Amino acid sequence: MSNPISTENQQPTGDIHGGAEIRRLVDAFYAKVQLDPLLGPVFNDVAKVDWGEHLPKLYAFWESVLFGSGDYRGNPMLAHLHLDGKETLTWEMFERWLALFHETVDELFFGPVAHRIKLASANMGQVIHSRVQMMRKGSPLTGGGGEKEYARRS
Ligand code: HEM
Repeated sequence: MSNPISTENQQPTGDIHGGAEIRRLVDAFYAKVQLDPLLGPVFNDVAKVDWGEHLPKLYAFWESVLFGSGDYRGNPMLAHLHLDGKETLTWEMFERWLALFHETVDELFFGPVAHRIKLASANMGQVIHSRVQMMRKGSPLTGGGGEKEYARRS
């Protein structure tokens, strides 16, 4: 029987046009994340993510990034700073996240928007990782005080 989570044998059908494609992408990506030996435990055991809450947030996030629509209300920086306080987020984790994300995009979609979401995620990965490093408690770069300091400065 084929693995219901795998997108390996699917052919990309076209570009990302809106919410329906974003939901397919996000669902397929986080199914992989949960099974990944490096990322899965951070989501499931450290953050103890409630997937029923998390996935709709991510649909709204990517809709707002790509199309300026959706009702995303959140602060990704603060979410990752908070997480980094519990478990150090390494560049290796960001690389794995991005590799899985880009792989999933390519398995399902092709076109200018598919290209754009890969660029946007790569940029965000860089920004989130460098900010998290800077704001980490005791960082020699800023003497960062973690998420409280971030919330105060931004
Ligand atoms: C590389 C680019 C990444 C992007 C674009 C990204 C994006 C996001 C966004 C938009 C949220 C929702 C924030 C909110 O409104 O609550 C989120 C939450 C989260 N991210 Fe990331 N993320 C990235 C990398 C990572 C990595 C590398 C990890 C872990 C190894 C990670 C773990 C999490 C977890 C656990 C949450 C849920 C936090 C919570 O609700 O407690 N993310 N991410």
